[in-house]
This record gives sequence, C-alpha cells and structure tokens, in this order.
Amino acid sequence: MAVTGLLLVGFLYAHMIGNLKIFFGAESFDHYAHWLRRLGTPLLPQDWYLWIQRFVLTAAVVGHIVAATILTRRARKARPVRYVHRPKVQGSYAARTMRWGGVIIALFIVYHILDLTTGHLNPVGDPQHPYGNVVADFAPGRWYVTLFYTLAIVAVGFHLRHGLFSAVRSLGQRTLRGERLARAAALLLSVVLVVGYLSVPFAVLTGLVD
Ligand code: HEM
Repeated sequence: MAVTGLLLVGFLYAHMIGNLKIFFGAESFDHYAHWLRRLGTPLLPQDWYLWIQRFVLTAAVVGHIVAATILTRRARKARPVRYVHRPKVQGSYAARTMRWGGVIIALFIVYHILDLTTGHLNPVGDPQHPYGNVVADFAPGRWYVTLFYTLAIVAVGFHLRHGLFSAVRSLGQRTLRGERLARAAALLLSVVLVVGYLSVPFAVLTGLVD
C-alpha cells in the first residue's frame, strides 16, 4: 500500500505543479503539454515515456487496490466476530472514508481522462490546445464540472492525509514525536495539493484565467 501510494503521490504533486503553468498563459501551458509528449526523446521514441508512465501508474493503482483488498480481508479474518458494541467515532474522518474516497477518485480519473486527455467529454477537446480545453471545461456555465472536480480533489486530499500518515507508520516510524510530525506533514502536504489543484478551476470560474 505504502510503496504504490507514495508513487501515486509523486505523480499527483508533479501534475499539480505542471497545472500551475496555466497562470503563465496559453503559450506556456500548451508548450508544457507538448513538452510532456517529447519527454524522454531522443533516448526513447516520441510518446514512449508517456506510455511507460501510464503503464507504471496503472500498475500502481491496481496494486494499491489489490493491497487494500488483501489488508481488509486479513483484518476481517483476524476478527471474524463483529464487535457487539462499536464506538461511533473511530479514527479521523479521513481514516473512515478511505474506501469510498478511493471509489470517488477512481470514477473521477476515468471521467478526467475522457475529458482532458482524449477530449471526448470536453466542450472543445482539441489535443493541440490543452489550455483552451481547460478554460472551456471550467467556464461559469459548466459550474457542475467544477463542483465534481472540487469533490474529487477534496476526496484526494482526505485520502492523501490518512494515506501519507499510514505510509510513514508502515515504513517503520514508531515514536510518539515522529507520529505527531507525520500527522502535521501529512496535513500540510494534503492542503497544499488541494489548494494547488483547485486554484485552476476557480481561476477560470472567476475569470482570472480566460
Ligand atoms: C483541476 C485539477 C486538474 C487539472 C486542471 C488537470 C489537467 C489535466 C490535463 C490538461 C491533462 C491532459 C494532459 C495532456 O494530455 O496533455 C490531464 C491528464 C491527466 N490527469 Fe489531470 N488535472 C487535474 C487534476 C487531476 C487529478 C486530481 C488527478 C488524479 C487523481 C489527475 C490525473 C490525471 C491523469 C492520470 C492524466 C492522464 C495523463 C496521461 O495522459 O497519461 N488530474 N490533467
């Protein structure tokens, strides 16, 4: 869980930072998107790096889900008889919403790829001009798209907060001070990620980017 999760966090951060190029204008953002396709050349043929990254990310997502299923089954086996009295509040909100959060994120990724990568669900869907696709996507009239992105990104934030904290524990951190530090770092990293991602649709919605 921890290793695949940390790999996905690496992608999430890189993607969020890349998205901020939108604040430097259409030319800068489109240039960046086209550069992504050339990444790895001339060592690799055009687009190869992108496909390797897609393969690794897909394997990480599948591995993450398989590990979650195995861990849940193991936990159930260890406690075959359910607790008669289960306290209502168990762990943080983030910890209790990991599974549903994961489902929302998975559905979002499918929608998002059809929207901004293949362009099928985008009002413009021009692969040569990703800046135009993003601006059309989050236009004020399509507030429901911004709402869906917001829900999904907040779910990513909650998922990440608990996931990062658990990963640090899985990788061997045991002390009380370390736990407090890990909790604070997980919160900070999640908030920065959520604000970074949300800044794009809200900048379009408010007309800061057009
Ligand atoms: C408002 C926030 C976001 C914006 C504006 C955004 C923008 C984009 C754009 C423009 C592309 C297409 C790049 C291209 O093909 O040239 C893309 C692809 C992608 N995004 Fe996002 N994204 C956002 C949030 C997210 C989040 C939260 C995730 C993951 C949970 C994510 C995962 C992906 C993936 C997996 C791809 C496909 C990359 C590929 O082509 O292999 N994005 N995004």
